[in-house]
Amino acid sequence: MTEIERHSYDVVVIGAGGAGLRAAIEARLQGKRTAIISKSLFGKAHTVMAEGGAAAAMGNVNPNDNWQVHFRDTMRGGKFLNNWRMAELHAKEAPDRVWELEHWGALFDRTKDGKISQRNFGGHEYPRLAHVGDRTGLELIRTAQQKIVALQQQDHAETGDYESNLKVWAETTVTRLLLDGERICGAFAYVRETGRFVVFEAPAVVLATGGIGKAFKVTSNSWEYTGDGHSLALLAGATLLNMEFVQFHPTGMVWPPSVKGILVTESVRGDRGVLKNSDGERFMFDYIPEVFKSQYATSPEEGDRWYDDPDNNRRPPELLPRDEVARAINSEVKAGRGSPHGGVFLTVVDRMPGGAAEIVRRLPSMHHQFKELADVDITTEPMEVGPTCHYVMGGVEVDPDTAAALVPGLFAAGEVAGGMHGSNRLGGNSLTDLLVFGRRAGLGASEYVDALDARPAVPETEVEAATAEALARSSARTARTPTPSTPSSSRR
Ligand code: FUM
Repeated sequence: MTEIERHSYDVVVIGAGGAGLRAAIEARLQGKRTAIISKSLFGKAHTVMAEGGAAAAMGNVNPNDNWQVHFRDTMRGGKFLNNWRMAELHAKEAPDRVWELEHWGALFDRTKDGKISQRNFGGHEYPRLAHVGDRTGLELIRTAQQKIVALQQQDHAETGDYESNLKVWAETTVTRLLLDGERICGAFAYVRETGRFVVFEAPAVVLATGGIGKAFKVTSNSWEYTGDGHSLALLAGATLLNMEFVQFHPTGMVWPPSVKGILVTESVRGDRGVLKNSDGERFMFDYIPEVFKSQYATSPEEGDRWYDDPDNNRRPPELLPRDEVARAINSEVKAGRGSPHGGVFLTVVDRMPGGAAEIVRRLPSMHHQFKELADVDITTEPMEVGPTCHYVMGGVEVDPDTAAALVPGLFAAGEVAGGMHGSNRLGGNSLTDLLVFGRRAGLGASEYVDALDARPAVPETEVEAATAEALARSSARTARTPTPSTPSSSRR
């Protein structure tokens, strides 16, 4: 008989990126016994790849910014197909979530007068992205992990057990959500290192599993992004929306082939980088759509003046929303004006007042990435870039205020949830999305648990079915694995 471990929690959070960690912190702060289930090693979350910053209308660099302008930019970027209530909550609450991170120890870059620095990004009217160089997602994860450790230390002081109220299950994969009738009652998983099966009994489950980008050959996404949460939700009876909206970030590396698709942060363009075709032209001036015409510069000179005098000039079209820039790059390549390896050129050479030293200070990861992976020095040479699959706007349909899905007991936050970004997400909106709705999901799940008359029970039939399915999948995989004697020609 298959041995199955059982553990009981109030709230189980599936996913250990920014949304999952923020949801788990909230559930634990609400007094709930909480588990975080992480498919990979703890800390190796894809959130780390959100490099450029977290968008929040704090008005630190331009005092004209406020939540209403952020809301409008988000709706316009999403072609008005966004869930407006999610966009409203996001724009209103993002600044608090950033200040909260700082309070928990995040070391943001500063303005000259000591405020959190904010940088320009595509589609955002004002400098709005709170950032840590070009490693903002990494700092977010580091800070949330530090907060989790602090809570575990607090629990240890009170109970003698670090994991009494908040436990991280690393390298553990959930294969099914479990249902008691129509309600969530837990999740079925296996631990990768040992292969053992685990039933997590819990009345509330928060999905924070990220996206689906690994379905595409050229992608900025890491290996975890295989749509796990989307399928778990669907199989449990939840609804998905907007799944046709997949975002291609305009700038991924195109060369060498082994790193094709790796993200080149939008901060490069936010920090004065420009796009050029093989004729040396800043082609984005030919691609400004009607709806954005009044806001964007019509000449390179005006675009360049905007960085220092935004009140009297319009922004350069390199800072249009991502979908517009990605389509323009694609058109240039198709028209035969691409770079040698099928992209276009992105350059910051001679663009920053502080020269090479400022490039390295503002874009340390990009400088390192291009030097190490492509032997390109971005302080003296252009980068070759092209579109790469980056984000899915579609996801689990949720209630904006509580993050509840249609299945009682199921919640979703971050990229796995749909609606917030319409048909196109603005850069920087995902880091604050996962903080705002991660917190709301943790709160929503806790309130749901508090309101229950009786906790659901895990039916044995559910466990048996999930076990049989997991065993069948693993034997099918074993049958497909070629033996050493299989001739290599028949393996291809
Ligand atoms: O370009 C970037 O740094 C990515 C940020 C984002 O997707 O929000």
